[in-house]
Formats: sequence, structure tokens, C-alpha cells
Amino acid sequence: MLRDHPTTGATSITFIEPHCPPLYERDTPAHDRYGRRIDYLRVSLTDRCNMRCVYCMPADGMQFLPPPDLLSNQELILVLSAAAAAGFRKIRLTGGEPTLRHEIVELVRAIKAIPGIEQIAMTTNALRLGRLAAPLKAAGLDRVNISIDSLDARKFRQITRGGSLDDVWAGVWAADEAGLHPIKLNAVVVRGMNDDELIRLAALTTHYSWDLRFIEVMPLTGVAGLAEEGVISSTELIVRIAAHFGQLESYGQGSSDPARRYRIPGAPGTLGFISAVTDPFCATCNRMRLTAEGRMHLCLLRDDEMDLRAAVRAGASQDEITQLIRHAVHLKPWGHGLPEGVLPTLRGMSQIGG
Ligand code: 5AD
Ligand code: SF4
Repeated sequence: MLRDHPTTGATSITFIEPHCPPLYERDTPAHDRYGRRIDYLRVSLTDRCNMRCVYCMPADGMQFLPPPDLLSNQELILVLSAAAAAGFRKIRLTGGEPTLRHEIVELVRAIKAIPGIEQIAMTTNALRLGRLAAPLKAAGLDRVNISIDSLDARKFRQITRGGSLDDVWAGVWAADEAGLHPIKLNAVVVRGMNDDELIRLAALTTHYSWDLRFIEVMPLTGVAGLAEEGVISSTELIVRIAAHFGQLESYGQGSSDPARRYRIPGAPGTLGFISAVTDPFCATCNRMRLTAEGRMHLCLLRDDEMDLRAAVRAGASQDEITQLIRHAVHLKPWGHGLPEGVLPTLRGMSQIGG
């Protein structure tokens, strides 16, 4: 049964009661109403973070989930086993900051052991990766995306409201040594904040075989003002980088990779441009998100969710949860409504995991 969320009638949020009837074939890959195959699940392990990036969280006043509200490790493994049975093959661990999750190494090992899960990646700020990269790799983590928005320690501290660039570099090198390849570095570019570092950031790929991805700032709750003034289109970034390095070589785009990829001629690394705002990639979207408190979040930039934790805590079997997840996949919206001015209102980026 579907019903509107009682307190947010104005939004498109929909909660689905547990125990909906089994509607779908078992063990076939899940497709949504638009024929997109959905096999990539981004899993937020915590809404907490040891940084406060200006484009992600407000400086203070964040309300974090009390621990009993988070899915326990056991509950999470049940949900992810059900997701694997629904056709999910790739997991990305996100946060907040996923390395803050208690027993993260053991959790990665347990997720890797789930039949059907082929790949586990993590998006991290790397502050704790110096110590954790090797054990995470040994536990089955395949690769990492690391956020790095400035190469200047003072500015990095400003943007992240306290983060240490030295610790991040220690994390990048540890990830490189541990073999968490290919290493992807994410830079959210905001006009007037770090766009003066565009060329220096891009130049990293002329020395290292990393994939540097420039991300347009997205207007999630708490940072919408910043996004309004600061968004720089990928097209503008490409023009500015090409003006310095010469014409970029097109490097192709994987079928559901949101990044348009290029290479500076002769560089070992690549440049990627993720333009969720100015050039949405909804048509090839292959992903959904699981929040730390166990809600399937159907589209990053919309509020629609399905509460799986309620089903888990009501004693649903793995098969029943698989059916719910298939239903959630089926209901996935076509795409975001930014062009029509529809903004997500319920969660900030740190509560979904990017
Ligand atoms: N817009 C775009 N990307 C964001 N991230 C965080 N907040 C935003 C935003 N408002 C990205 C960070 C990080 C990942 C977790 O999400 O770059 O890599
Ligand atoms: Fe933390 Fe990542 Fe958000 Fe920065 S972008 S505050 S590192 S979750």
C-alpha cells in the first residue's frame, strides 16, 4: 500500500508499507519502470563526519542519528543480501564519512562475502585511510574515491572547516600502495572558492595515473545558496582547462558512468566531469541509495524513500526484503526536477552519501 508522508504532503515522498505482495520474478536483474537496469547501491554507513565541507554540511546545528536508529551490521548484511538477490552487483560505501563506522573492516569483509556482490568501493575523505587502506584492501575493498578540493593546506582547512590536507595525502598514498586502484579524486568546484586551483588540480593527472573528477556543486539542503551562486558548468571547466593544456582528448564514457572523461594529451591520468546540474545523466542512471537508517532513497535529488528498516525490524525474511527492494527499483523516478525548480528538502548530502 502506498501513502503520502503524513508531515510533508508537499513533497513527492512516498512510504511503502512492508509486506507488499511478491510482484516480481526471483533472481532476475532489477529494472525500473523506464527499463534502466539498477545494479549499483550506494550505502551510507553513518551520517557523521570528521569534516564539515561547506558544500555538504552547515557549520553547526547538524542533528545526527542516535545509534539505535542506524541499521546494525547484522541488519545491514540482511538488507544487502536481499539487494544482491534483487540484482545489485556493485556496492559503494559512503557516509557522512564511512571510515567512522564502528568495525568498518569487518563490515567490508562481510559484505564482500555476500553471494552476488562483485565489487565494493568507498567514497571517503581519506583522513583515516593512512591507517585503514591496507586492512580494508585485505578485507575485500576494491577501490576508493577521495575528496580533495584544494591543494593549499590553509584553503583546504577552510573548505572542510578543519580538515588536514597532510592526513588526506597520507591516505591517498596509503590507498595507492594498498592497490585500491584506480584511485579517483573528487573535487567539487565552486566559483570564488577553489576555481582558481583548477589548473593545479588538473595538472595532478599529468604526474599520476589517477582519475580526477570535477563535480558541479549540487543544491542539497543546507547548501542551496552556495550552489546557486557557485555552480560552474563542466563545459566552462573544460574550456578553461583546455585553454591552458591544449585540446583535451576525449576518453569515452562508461555506459553508466556519470563522468564525461578526457585526458590531457600524454597524461597518465584522466579528467572526469560530472554535471548533474547542467547536463543530467538520469537516462543512464543505474543506482539507488540506502541511508544509514535503512531507507531506500530512490533518486539523489528527490525525496522519495522506502523504509526497509521497518520491515527488517518487523521480522521480514530476506525474500520479502528482496521483493520490497524490487518494488523500490520499480518506483524509481525518471530523474531530478532541478530544471523545474524542484529541490530535495529532507536530507543534506551528508545524510545520503553523494
Ligand atoms: N554537490 C556536489 N557534490 C557534493 N559532495 C558533497 N556535497 C556535494 C554537493 N553539494 C560530494 C563530495 C564527496 C562526496 C561524498 O559527495 O565531493 O566526494
Ligand atoms: Fe564529510 Fe564528505 Fe561531507 Fe566533507 S563532503 S563534510 S568529508 S561527508
